[in-house]
Amino acid sequence: MKSVNSQGMKSAGQVLAGQRALITGANSGIGEGIAKSMAAAGATVVINYVRGPEDAARIVDEIKSRGGQALALEADVSREDQVQAMYRQMTDACGGIDILVNNAGMQKDAAFTDMSLADWELVIRVNLTGQFLCAREAARAFTRQGVIPEISSSAGKIICISSVHEAIPWAGHINYAASKGGVMMMMKTMAQELAARKIRVNSIAPGAIKTPINHDAWATPEKEAELLKLIPYGRVGEPDDIGRTAVWLASDQADYVTGATLYVDGGMMLYPGFRTGG
Ligand code: BGC
Repeated sequence: MKSVNSQGMKSAGQVLAGQRALITGANSGIGEGIAKSMAAAGATVVINYVRGPEDAARIVDEIKSRGGQALALEADVSREDQVQAMYRQMTDACGGIDILVNNAGMQKDAAFTDMSLADWELVIRVNLTGQFLCAREAARAFTRQGVIPEISSSAGKIICISSVHEAIPWAGHINYAASKGGVMMMMKTMAQELAARKIRVNSIAPGAIKTPINHDAWATPEKEAELLKLIPYGRVGEPDDIGRTAVWLASDQADYVTGATLYVDGGMMLYPGFRTGG
């Protein structure tokens, strides 16, 4: 049986009040942005990390100082035993889970003919198998809990953080692009299989967002100008752009949305090269 925290029910300004959210890889970048946005929307957030306990602790403190609820849990999402231990710890601390944000991911770039098997396997293991392991545990927990109408219209929500590179081929990044292509089909298959249990599964596919993963692409004005040629909307995204989208997608305002990929990319998917050519 699901426990309801002291905030209890949903209130107008706090669309995620009473909900418990696990955000993987939440100690930096997009994951940090989503954790802060969800905490501001009333969710109790679990900040998962694999390295950087200081950053996780800093984010927990920041959320608490603003009146939110947060805790940090360490786990390598690509290890089944660690993922299962993290879910047990979350259940002990929060009583259950209502939202999983499958965010943890990495890049290990190399030209195709130079790509080592180790780097291929590492990226697939973290970005794709990691999302599978975390989503499977979430779906099992949601199935046990069922729908609690005063918390949410659905039994649970899974948000996969994908990338524009689930659709845009990316030379020099074959392991990363393949992992995100895999996330796309995994998300849709989960959505199809879990809908009857009132579990919603969707993806957010960010374009270029200012985080450590792509620091080199926007670190200097020259680099940023080069990057902006790919972004019709004329600015590089911020973690908060993804945070606000994730809050909406996890809330009951998106109750009829499942199996969808939301591209949040300033128009990167619009073939910007064709603005002046073709
Ligand atoms: C990658 C970034 C890149 C962006 C747009 C993301 O998925 O992680 O490095 O800037 O896609 O190409």
